[in-house]
Amino acid sequence: MIDPSQFRRVMGHFAAGVTVVTTLRADGAPAGLTVSAVCSVSLNPTLVLACVDRGSESHPAIRQSGVFAVNVLREGEGETLARRFGTSDGDKFRGVGFHAEHTGAPVLDDALAWLDCRVRDAHEAGDHTIFVGEVEAADTREGVPLLYYRGGYGRFAP
Ligand SMILES: Cc1cc2nc3c(=O)[nH]c(=O)nc-3n(C[C@H](O)[C@H](O)[C@H](O)COP(=O)(O)O)c2cc1C
Repeated sequence: MIDPSQFRRVMGHFAAGVTVVTTLRADGAPAGLTVSAVCSVSLNPTLVLACVDRGSESHPAIRQSGVFAVNVLREGEGETLARRFGTSDGDKFRGVGFHAEHTGAPVLDDALAWLDCRVRDAHEAGDHTIFVGEVEAADTREGVPLLYYRGGYGRFAP
């Protein structure tokens, strides 16, 4: 096994899109966290995965509710959302517009793209859980994606 800080540094060279994975707490309040470890899994059925830290506050909410939405962030305002949802402090949803689509998971009004999912499988993997969600609704909006690379935020420039 290599040193975790070396692993983090090397993986930081893999430029990634940034999402906020949202879900519902038992009392119906929204919860969510910034997640870059998201991946398309299957076309038939349509499956997507999100790797979520078991120590995060959002983790038990995803487990309990059985639903989550992947909200792909756009550059600009998306960076503010990435920073806010990347910490466990404060009321993350204050002033953030969202609505329910199919599963009831919060879909952010400012997302560049979103996938509304029902948890189909959960695999324990080290200190994270790989939640595999069946996509029940999804759509896109116009805009430019937010990227994360070597610990900093940037934008796609073709
Ligand atoms: C750019 C970025 C990417 C992140 N990617 C992940 C990820 O893929 N999985 C994860 O569990 N946490 C990831 N995090 C960390 C969580 O967003 C962070 O631990 C958050 O505080 C958890 O919030 P919660 O405890 O309220 O659920 C990422 C953070 C940032 C800033």
